[in-house]
Amino acid sequence: MKIAITGKGGVGKTTFAAILSRLYAAEGYRVLAVDADPDANLALALGFPEEIIAKIIPIAEMKEMIAERTNTPSDSFGKMFKLNPQVDDIPEKYCTEYNGVKLLTMGTVETGGSGCVCPEHVLLKKLTSHLVLQNKDVVIMDMEAGIEHLGRGTAQGVNAFIVVVEPGARSLQTYDKVKKLAQDLGVPKVFAVGNKVKNQSDREYILKYLDANTCLGFISYSEEVVNSDRPDQSPFTNAKTVEEVKVIKQQLSLVT
Ligand SMILES: Nc1ncnc2c1ncn2[C@@H]1O[C@H](COP(=O)(O)OP(=O)(O)OP(=O)(O)O)[C@@H](O)[C@H]1O
Ligand SMILES: [Mg+2]
Repeated sequence: MKIAITGKGGVGKTTFAAILSRLYAAEGYRVLAVDADPDANLALALGFPEEIIAKIIPIAEMKEMIAERTNTPSDSFGKMFKLNPQVDDIPEKYCTEYNGVKLLTMGTVETGGSGCVCPEHVLLKKLTSHLVLQNKDVVIMDMEAGIEHLGRGTAQGVNAFIVVVEPGARSLQTYDKVKKLAQDLGVPKVFAVGNKVKNQSDREYILKYLDANTCLGFISYSEEVVNSDRPDQSPFTNAKTVEEVKVIKQQLSLVT
């Protein structure tokens, strides 16, 4: 199972990705949670202790490793380098494991426009393709908000995109954009999860907008989830929310 979790900013992608990862891990799956957001915070949501988080180095910042894999002397970035770096050992070697979930933090690559090719970029792209095409684990990718970064590398191997939405027109508009883009990129399935719902009318508002059979379920608005956004805490401790995500996970297994 390989899924990419997308949606508008702040809808709850990271919260959902973290709970889903913990649920797969609790069932004994090998889970690789991938933080693909440059503003990385999945480790916190997964409940990683602060001292472990402090030691995490994003892949994009591992200059020496990138230089070695791409055959680029570190003092001459931008010259000739290998376009096909070895990446298959990176997930195991550079992930951080806690509570049964392995976390891989991708980091940011400063790009000089869409045509930019630099060693970091090449390595991250190859690594992303590897994760979704060859890696044997359950892979859950917590994506950056919006749709601009949803490229072929992610799309070509995932089983599905899950778009997190909330009962508001803007997040539903993002769902539409993701759906269109996913069609262009050849992603087989696009599902939605309604988060922060407060009542039946919120559920109906979301359902009315979405295509039939795309909504995997709902997660209620919860003060506990808000309060769990603290160091050394995780939304996974909130039993009701975890139960709701369990139902969504069951639904996901029925449709993928
Ligand atoms: N079900 C919920 N009930 C209440 N608050 C929630 C719920 N889900 C998420 N939140 C809160 O909303 C905020 C944004 O959540 P989260 O970081 O998971 O969203 P995101 O989509 O990953 O955001 P970003 O686009 O910045 O990456 C957090 O403060 C989180 O605690
Ligand atoms: Mg996030």
